[in-house]
Amino acid sequence: MSFNIDFKNCGDIFSLPEFDIYKIRALDAHEALVSGSGTGADMTLWHDLPERTADEELSAIKECARNIQKNAGAFVLIGIGGSYAGARGAIEFIKGRNYNLKTKDTPMVFYSGCDLSPDSMNSVIDMISERDFYINVVSKSGTTLEPDLAFKIFGGLMEKRYGKRGAAERIIVTTDPEKGLLRELSKKCGYKSFDVPRGVGGRYSVLTAVGLLPMAVCGVDIDEVMRGARDAYRDFMEAEFSDNLCLKYAAVRNYLYDRGKCVEIFASFEPDLHAFGEWLKQLFAESEGKKGGGIFPVFTAFSTDLHSIGQYIQDGTKNQFETLLWPESPRTDITMPEGAPGDALSYLSGMKLSEINRSAMISSAAAHRDGGVPNLTVSFPRADAYSYGYLTYFFEKACALSGYILGVNPFDQPGVEAYKGYMRKLLKKPAQ
Ligand code: PA5
Repeated sequence: MSFNIDFKNCGDIFSLPEFDIYKIRALDAHEALVSGSGTGADMTLWHDLPERTADEELSAIKECARNIQKNAGAFVLIGIGGSYAGARGAIEFIKGRNYNLKTKDTPMVFYSGCDLSPDSMNSVIDMISERDFYINVVSKSGTTLEPDLAFKIFGGLMEKRYGKRGAAERIIVTTDPEKGLLRELSKKCGYKSFDVPRGVGGRYSVLTAVGLLPMAVCGVDIDEVMRGARDAYRDFMEAEFSDNLCLKYAAVRNYLYDRGKCVEIFASFEPDLHAFGEWLKQLFAESEGKKGGGIFPVFTAFSTDLHSIGQYIQDGTKNQFETLLWPESPRTDITMPEGAPGDALSYLSGMKLSEINRSAMISSAAAHRDGGVPNLTVSFPRADAYSYGYLTYFFEKACALSGYILGVNPFDQPGVEAYKGYMRKLLKKPAQ
C-alpha cells in the first residue's frame, strides 16, 4: 500500500488529444518551479526544504517541545492563516480531532489569534486558568492584527501569572529570521524563537518550525513527518509525467477548470481529516484565487455531508469536481457484532466498519460521477505522521504547479489586504 491517485472517475482523460496541452503546461510549470524562473520565485524555497532541513533545527524543535511537555498542561498556539491552519490540520490528522480529550502525557492545545471573537478568546482563557501554559506566537510579518491582539492578551495573562521573567521563559516566537516587530521583541525580552525561513510563505510553511513545533509538543514524530515529505519531494521531482502523480493532478485540475469545473470539493470519510481539509482550502484559495479566476476549494466531511451538501453535489449546478482523501487503513477498527434473527443489519455481521466505510466511499464516488461530478481519490496508507508529511508536500507542490498553469503567482495574497484597509479606518488606526 502506498500513495496513489485513482483518476478513473474522471473518464479516460489521459488519452484525450485535448489533454496533451495540459501535460505540456504541467511540465513547463514544473520546469519554472524547479529552475526558479516562474513568478514569485523568491518565495519557492519551501520546494526543496524537506531535503535541506538540518538535523540541528529538528533537534532544537524537539528539545523545546520536551521542555513544554515537562512544564505545561496547555499550549496556546497564536496565529492565523498559514501561521495556524497547517499545524492544526497536522495535529488532528495524526493525533485525532479529539486529541485534547484523550488521556495523554502531552499538553492540551488551544488556538487563538485566528478570530476576534471575545467568546472564543474567553473560552481559551477559561481552559488555561488552572493549567500551566506556554504560548507560541507565530507570525511571519509580526504585524497581523488578530494574532498581535491575542498575543497582547495572553502575554499579559502570562506576566500576571508567572511574572515578567517567568513569562519570558514560556513565550516562544516563530517569525521572520531578521525583521519585524516580533523578532525585535523576542530579542528585547529574551524569548526563545524559531525562524519562518526566508522564501517560505505562510501557507507553505507547515513543514518548518511553524508547524513542526506544535506537532512535536503534541507528541508527533516530526522525523517521520519529514521523512514522508522527503520521499514525496524525491518522487515528484524525478518521475516522468506518466508516473508523476503531482504533475498529473495539477494538469487534471486545470483541464477540468477550463471545462467549467470551477469548484473543487475536497472530501474525506475520516472526520480527523477535517482540519487538514481546512488547510487545503487555505492553501489553494489563497494561492489560486486571483485575477478574477481560480478554482474555489471547499471541504466536505462524509458521510455527514452526504446527507446535506450531498444532494447539491448529486443534483445541483454542475460546476464541481471532487478530490477524495482516503487512508487505506484506519488507525483502529470495529467488527460488526452478530445480530439477532430478524435484525435489519444482520447482513453486515462480521464485517469490519472500515469495509463499510470503504463501500460508502466507492459508492458516493460512483454516484457523483454518474451525476456529472468527475472525481479522483487520493489514497495513502494511513493517517499517520509519515503520510501526513508526504501528502502535505504533494499538495503544496501540486498547488504551486496548478497556480503556474493557471497563470497566477501562487505565492502572494494581495486580496487579503482589502478588508484590512477598511478596518484600519473603522478602528482609526494612526498613520505610521
Ligand atoms: O499564507 C499566507 O501567507 C497567509 O495566510 C499568512 O500566513 C497569514 O496572513 C498570516 O500572516 P503572518 O504570519 O504574517 O501573521
